[in-house]
Amino acid sequence: MKKQKATNVTWHEHKISREERERLLGQKGVVLWFTGLSGSGKSTVANEVAYLLHQREKLTYILDGDNIRHGLNKDLGFSPEDRSENIRRISEVANLLADAGVITLTAFISPYREDRNFCRSLLGEGRFMEIYTKASLDTCEHRDPKGLYRKARSGEIKNFTGIDAPYEEPEEPELVLDTDCQTVEESARAVMDRLREWNVLEGGR
Ligand code: ADX
Repeated sequence: MKKQKATNVTWHEHKISREERERLLGQKGVVLWFTGLSGSGKSTVANEVAYLLHQREKLTYILDGDNIRHGLNKDLGFSPEDRSENIRRISEVANLLADAGVITLTAFISPYREDRNFCRSLLGEGRFMEIYTKASLDTCEHRDPKGLYRKARSGEIKNFTGIDAPYEEPEEPELVLDTDCQTVEESARAVMDRLREWNVLEGGR
């Protein structure tokens, strides 16, 4: 992980706390970290969960791999170092959003355990939910929504996760969604159930 470069900078405490922002919003700021192979359903399920939460007047925001790589992380590729830096920056952004009180959903392959654990350590207990969208490589390759597996198999794309780049499965995720078998609605409901257990949705209108 990167070391701090700047010296002579001090941390400021602000007048309004996270708890006060959360009270205003009637929710808890958490990070729902979706991880899994490309095509395993991370973005699709995250979108459905955000939709259900919005209907309940909860404030959400989705950070999505393909989108973030057009802006904040457009200087990063898919080498192991770049993927780590990608996840490090996203983790910091997700932490800020959660601190603002937002229910933050992230959808990145995030293939390295250590990088996901970095975000877990930033957020702390009860604020980071690792959600593994588990689908076999076969299923993802069959779905191939962006035609990238085909390109990876033909050698047109190198270092593609699951083909010639690794994916480290979560060891103790808070939730596993078997997207081989479950529908999007079933997966989203499982996440909503867990959010209720975590008292994330308490308070507000
Ligand atoms: S991560 O590994 O750094 O977490 P991220 O989620 O941001 O990846 O981006 C993955 C998306 O980029 C995939 O869904 C796919 O659309 C696209 N992509 C392009 N090249 C690759 C590659 N070599 N490996 C994985 N995904 C790739």
